[in-house]
Amino acid sequence: MTGTPRCYSRLFARKSIAALQKDAESHGLKRTLGRWSLLFLGVGCILGAGIYVMPGTTAASFAGPGVMLSFVLAGVACALTALCYAELASAMPVSGSAYTYCYASMGEVFAWGLGWLLLLEYNLAASLLAVGFSGYLASLFADFGIIIPAALSSPTIQGTADGVFQMTGSVNLVAAAAIFVVTTVLVVGVNESARINALLVIIKTAVLAAFIIVGIGAIQPENWTPFIPPNEGGFTYGWQGVVRGASMLFFAYIGFETVSTAASETREPKRDLPFGILGSLAVCTVVYIAVAAVLTGVVPYKELGVPDPIAIAVDRMGHPQFATLVKIGALTGLASVLLVNAFGQSRIAFAMSRDGLLPPLFSRLHARWLTPSGGIVALGTIAALGAAFLPLSLLGDLISIGVASAFSIVAISVMWLRTTRPDLPRPFTVPFGGRRIGGVWIGIVPLAAIVFCWAMILPVAIDIGAKAARGELLPAVILGAYAMLGVMVYALYGLRRSRAGHGEPILASEVPAGE
Ligand code: ALA
Repeated sequence: MTGTPRCYSRLFARKSIAALQKDAESHGLKRTLGRWSLLFLGVGCILGAGIYVMPGTTAASFAGPGVMLSFVLAGVACALTALCYAELASAMPVSGSAYTYCYASMGEVFAWGLGWLLLLEYNLAASLLAVGFSGYLASLFADFGIIIPAALSSPTIQGTADGVFQMTGSVNLVAAAAIFVVTTVLVVGVNESARINALLVIIKTAVLAAFIIVGIGAIQPENWTPFIPPNEGGFTYGWQGVVRGASMLFFAYIGFETVSTAASETREPKRDLPFGILGSLAVCTVVYIAVAAVLTGVVPYKELGVPDPIAIAVDRMGHPQFATLVKIGALTGLASVLLVNAFGQSRIAFAMSRDGLLPPLFSRLHARWLTPSGGIVALGTIAALGAAFLPLSLLGDLISIGVASAFSIVAISVMWLRTTRPDLPRPFTVPFGGRRIGGVWIGIVPLAAIVFCWAMILPVAIDIGAKAARGELLPAVILGAYAMLGVMVYALYGLRRSRAGHGEPILASEVPAGE
């Protein structure tokens, strides 16, 4: 009997905001980042498979040329969440992810749930980026007469246009190898400087800008008609497809939250954080819509269900040298985001492990390289398995569910903190305000963020349910197994070992730079 209340209070154990803030003041990091560095950081982390890979599958399976509207919808949902991130980051300007914010505001069990969702999102995103990388690599090699056999560069399970999963006998070893290369780089230690990031951002955006400029001349406007193809049942085309497409394209905007993790190195968090977060989202939204317009204008949307849609489009433009350049640009973009992504996931696992919520494997540092090598290799292996076996569409769906759920927890954290700590200084607050209803602070922006995020989750959840009903159980089984594993790991490990649950202080300085 006596164990129950103690156990219950542990579920809601929190990190102390005062301790985090004090620690942030003495972190020793210089406040060197201005608004433009933050904007570049955001764009560098955002532009990747979401534009090089996903618009093809989304247009072919769900939205047709209406994929442009899907990008707008997903962008609005992310902008609302981004404002919530900015408020939390300004109130707790520590080098931490949403996981840390949640731990300090809502408590351990929510932070655990968020961390577990973020790990799902980051891990599958690494798989998806690697699948895109393998597609572009095969296409580039083919330009030089080297054919990578499909058996080595396509997944074991293939999703057909009507949502059926088929075994192919292939294994995407190229994608798995890409993850192992990135894993090795991270184990040895990589310190990506702001300058390298700026260079990569310039290459990525310049290549996309060139794609847009050259592509405009090759657009055949009849490919845009009908702009939203008539619904063919379920989420295949029509407005249903546009919304369903938006949930898949959520992925394209992940990365803006990285800007908030740089809060403690920002000169003027109040002014620069919102600029960096919202500015990078705005830049990417414009680029995405323009690229999607060219893509669907050059290639009929039904032919775009491939991992390398931009390669298909440039091949149709009839400039072979340009095609090679664009593919190299795509590979650069995908590799850089893969690296940032794999780095991010290892640091989230690191933080959870330091907090006692995951085994020490994820926080033990390598004697020579001082990186959490065991965790990096373990997570890299799981991502490589996903990349080798799972199809793009399935990866995209699972990521969307993870991201949208995680984002709605972030929005709830804002309302929770306003309710429980209204006194906390907040240099940046979400616009349009809010009011207390029955003692609970309800804000317009966080509430809208939750509504939008759930509007994104709903079509995926319905689709997964419909698939399960007709015997296509794979997505439901993966999600169910992941949720069950999460509950088991927390109940059997985290709950017993959590440092916050034992009243031990945990300071941000224990987390390495970048987390
Ligand atoms: N937003 C990142 C991408 O599109 C994750 O690759």
